Amino acid sequence: MTIPKPVYNPPFNVTRASHSVLTVKDLAKSRSFYVDLIGFIVSDEDKDAIYLRGVAEACHHSLVLKRARGDSESERVGMRVFTEEDLEKAKAFFEKAGLPAKWVEVPYQGRTLHVADASGAPIEFCATMDLKPRLVVDFRHHHGAVPQRIDHFQLLVPDVQKACEFWMSMGFRLSEYISPDGTQDLLFVFLQRKGNPHDIVFAPGAGPRLHHAAFSIPESYHFFYVCDLATEMGFAANIEFGPGRHGPGHALFVYMRDPDGHRIELFNTHYQVMDIENEPVRWDASHAMKRRWQLPARQQWFDEASRFAGVAPREPARKGEPMSLEKFIAAGRR
Ligand SMILES: [Fe+2]
Repeated sequence: MTIPKPVYNPPFNVTRASHSVLTVKDLAKSRSFYVDLIGFIVSDEDKDAIYLRGVAEACHHSLVLKRARGDSESERVGMRVFTEEDLEKAKAFFEKAGLPAKWVEVPYQGRTLHVADASGAPIEFCATMDLKPRLVVDFRHHHGAVPQRIDHFQLLVPDVQKACEFWMSMGFRLSEYISPDGTQDLLFVFLQRKGNPHDIVFAPGAGPRLHHAAFSIPESYHFFYVCDLATEMGFAANIEFGPGRHGPGHALFVYMRDPDGHRIELFNTHYQVMDIENEPVRWDASHAMKRRWQLPARQQWFDEASRFAGVAPREPARKGEPMSLEKFIAAGRR
């Protein structure tokens, strides 16, 4: 396995992870979780959808909850491109790759391009959104974990190398990666466009499925406050993993499951990475596990993820053997 070469002049200009579109069975219950507990700002809502943003976001939405017609699923991963011209170039790029690409109308967004990536994950690109007030210094609206902005997605895919090659061909740069000890195999890849460690992460597993969307929060104490509040509001069992500290990316984190089982990560403290001489940081899998002070994640964190609407997950050729909490306890590890 080899690390794909970076493309410094990409075929079109993706600027950042933009928005997650999820379907949920009970909008009122989801509103209680995302708004009353986590602290998202409601940009708009109707009987079939809620459009949410963080306090530091001026664009209309970074999380859309739609009423599910069947199972609750992930509908789309949303990315921003810089200009309308980049949208045209994106369409040509996907068509040339023999992948689906079509224009659609999406509420509160400019012209939107629906595509599927090389793994079959449904992605949408837009260049503009309606604007809303940025509430970052309007403290009356700060609540719960005070989510500031969307930061990244993590997807499970059956072939991480293939996903990495495809996204790097779009100009994404590899910031960090985890390899089985002593190899250059790409087990976990962290890819970015916006200049911090990741906009999209690919991990091995049956997929494509959405593992989580991540939102930044301002202060360390918000991790503990939102966990206390979750307990008070009857959402204690929704806290899945953490608070803890990542090795790659070095962020503090907590993972939560929403009422439909969709996972979000709240995190802070990402660093800056954008200069041309910044080489990808390689982690031995065993070292990535040692560089933490919290206990490992439960097995469900590695296995469970949201299905994409209309996309049947495929099993990976090779299954990993991550150190789960269950294995850690069974082995009597310290
Ligand atoms: Fe993450």
